[in-house]
Amino acid sequence: MHSFAYKNSALHCEAVNLSDIASAMGTPTFVYSRKTIMDDLSELKEALAPLDAHIAYAVKACSNMAILNLMAKQGVGFDIVSGGELWRVIHAGGDPTRCTYAGVGKTEAEIRYALNHKIYCFNCESENELREINRIAGEMGVKAPVAVRVNPNVEANTHKYITTGTKENKFGVDFSRIEELYATIAAEMPHLYIRGLQMHIGSQLTEVSPFVKAIEKVAPMARKFKELYNIEFWSIGGGIGIIYDGCLASGSAEWWTAHPEQITLKSYAEAIIPLLQPIGLKILVEPGRRLVGNAACLLTTCLYEKKGEAKTFKMIDAGMNDIIRPALYEGYHEIWPVKEHKNDTIVADIVGPICESGDFQAQNREIADVKPGEILAEMSAGAYGFSMASTYNSRPLAAEVLVDGDKWHVIRKRQTMAQMVEDESLPE
Ligand code: LLP
Repeated sequence: MHSFAYKNSALHCEAVNLSDIASAMGTPTFVYSRKTIMDDLSELKEALAPLDAHIAYAVKACSNMAILNLMAKQGVGFDIVSGGELWRVIHAGGDPTRCTYAGVGKTEAEIRYALNHKIYCFNCESENELREINRIAGEMGVKAPVAVRVNPNVEANTHKYITTGTKENKFGVDFSRIEELYATIAAEMPHLYIRGLQMHIGSQLTEVSPFVKAIEKVAPMARKFKELYNIEFWSIGGGIGIIYDGCLASGSAEWWTAHPEQITLKSYAEAIIPLLQPIGLKILVEPGRRLVGNAACLLTTCLYEKKGEAKTFKMIDAGMNDIIRPALYEGYHEIWPVKEHKNDTIVADIVGPICESGDFQAQNREIADVKPGEILAEMSAGAYGFSMASTYNSRPLAAEVLVDGDKWHVIRKRQTMAQMVEDESLPE
């Protein structure tokens, strides 16, 4: 449960009035709640306690060094997808030997870097990738730990761009080909050793049934590989969904009682534990969004209002370069005024300053009739918010702040114009 709520008509993150952060930092600024992250992490650990479960936080969701450091201090491992993410983990105090490395396009330099740091496992996505890791490990005189990502062809019932476990997706190896591939690794790739099995069917899953279906389908394979290759772990991936529509209200226990259909860490764990426990493997889970998504908002200022013939627009100072989710995935994020409004809603499009029609944060949305100068909080912004930000339209990257009780810390300064162009140069 998150820690954002109105107190005395002012939206707070934990004990800090968000207006104070906006005044001190300017906008757009991402504000994370340490308590929310810590609470959810404890809840997940507790829910999975009956298993030999290991959390590998999916760094891509939010890779700020302070957030990674927070995770590392809680004994969490990391699921990485690039050399850059591994670098971040190491420099944020994380343990590379607790990193799994996913992704369909690992380069030779990245593979060498990961081998040098003795990562826990390469989660591989094709036979050719396995052969490449085998070659490089051979040259380096080491044995590389590998798992293969099985694509179980299970529908995740989520947006098509974040569905990963069907035959149409570039991810993993077809379910029907996995056994043969493991036999090939064992027979033909002497510089690899088979450490596990991996899968990940998609992101923002709001029901447990696809997880259950995929686990049921792959479980016999996991058992078999334990027998045949003595594998040590099965990673069941990430994907647990968060609250977008209803986010602010979901900060209260009553909301959860009134929404029993909503996936919780407890319902997720209760559904999968009976399927996984009898197998007797170490179980890795790779949550990204669920650990940080509801733990942050993006503060933005209303700049202008425009009433068109067909629509009313509220222009804000956050664009698709700050949060691309509405443009890319039709993502829905609640938007609340930091100073509470009562009974004055209108229907409007909340749009950013970028020169693209796709640059909106909300369309045809009933929201508070905010006036220019007012601060808004875009909710559920912690996952795939800043980590997907860019400087498109030459807009410097936003600032990031971590709240802890009644204190807050800048965990990323706003980028300056000079920093934005510092690596560019004019030809001689
Ligand atoms: N493990 C693997 C192998 C993954 O590919 C992903 C996410 C995760 C774990 C973490 O999934 P999560 O627990 O966060 O759902 N940018 C998109 C989401 C892309 C997810 C990519 N893979 C969005 O904003 O919705």
